[in-house]
Amino acid sequence: MWFNRMELEIWFDKYQYAVDYDIGESAVKALSVKDIDIDLGKILLRYGYHTGRPDLKEALAEQYPGLSGDHIIVTTGASEANFIVVSALVKPGDHVVIEHPNYPSLYEVPRSLGCDVSLYTLKFENGFRPDLAELKKKITPQTKLVSLTHPNNPTGSMISEEVLHSVIELVESKDTYLLFDETYRHMASDEKLLPPAAALSPNVVSIASMSKCYGLPGIRTGWLATKSPFILDSAVAIREQLSISNNSLSEEIALSVLRRKDKFLADARTRIEFNRKIVADWMSKQNDFEWVYPEVGVVCFPRIKKYVNVDPEEVYRLLAEKYRTFVVPGRCFEMDERHFRIGFGADPGEIEIGLANLNIALNELAF
Ligand SMILES: Cc1ncc(COP(=O)(O)O)c(C=O)c1O
Repeated sequence: MWFNRMELEIWFDKYQYAVDYDIGESAVKALSVKDIDIDLGKILLRYGYHTGRPDLKEALAEQYPGLSGDHIIVTTGASEANFIVVSALVKPGDHVVIEHPNYPSLYEVPRSLGCDVSLYTLKFENGFRPDLAELKKKITPQTKLVSLTHPNNPTGSMISEEVLHSVIELVESKDTYLLFDETYRHMASDEKLLPPAAALSPNVVSIASMSKCYGLPGIRTGWLATKSPFILDSAVAIREQLSISNNSLSEEIALSVLRRKDKFLADARTRIEFNRKIVADWMSKQNDFEWVYPEVGVVCFPRIKKYVNVDPEEVYRLLAEKYRTFVVPGRCFEMDERHFRIGFGADPGEIEIGLANLNIALNELAF
């Protein structure tokens, strides 16, 4: 087992706190403790339950028809949930199929565990939509795990309900598992909201967190949900080695927000839809950039057009260092360097200035 640092996290470490205009983050603008209006004075700072506070697990289970709190394990973010699920299901040499582009951890964890990783790539030319026939070709009788993320980061693409059902039939027929990353699920409007995947089959495990839709990445609270007793049992064993239990302050904050989730999610969606329009209006005036309109979520993955003579990496660096504006380079997602991620969860004014700076930096360097 050998872990490499992720280019994406190196980039974040270097620049995110050094800028004024963050148009790269993939979460809705972060809330403060004051925004949540919560009294933490009563919380006992003892070890917690190994799988999460029962009332928090019940609150999380409400979104998964047919599941109860017993089917949930609360984790340190969706990141830990991903690590746990992959560690539970694979051993070195096992074949896995991971969607790409994606939050890099989704493929870095199986790589680090010594798996044979096949990337299944969403293509710009297909509007970053999943292609079931392509996915089918990647799955072999040896495949132990298929992993998809929708709404997708960084493309903002969305799997249709029909294709999701077909993927689940496929993994069931191959006797393998689907890890479905639903971290951005609640950013979808009611009409576009997918059924939570874990509710659809015992061969599926959903992972998600409070980070993106609620603007609470700092509490590091996520979860996995599944009907599979095997995954649940293995998961507790792994989580005991990683972190024993959850942070009690974070669990209290998560529960308090979930009890008022309709309000918090409605506020987040209003902000996201307003900002999506700002980015779309800006994009409609661009000659040097092209994109796939992000159907759902808070990120998109445009690219600098081929004919523009420029070193894209220099654009992202100049943007951060001179114009104090943060986007995420495509190489951080193992994609062509002309691509970059824009995140639009911040205040509208910050996004407008950040986008204008993007034009300035490109014009300064293009020849
Ligand atoms: C698809 C996806 N999954 C998981 C994560 C990890 O987030 P967290 O550990 O904060 O829940 C991210 C973060 O960007 C992500 O985009």
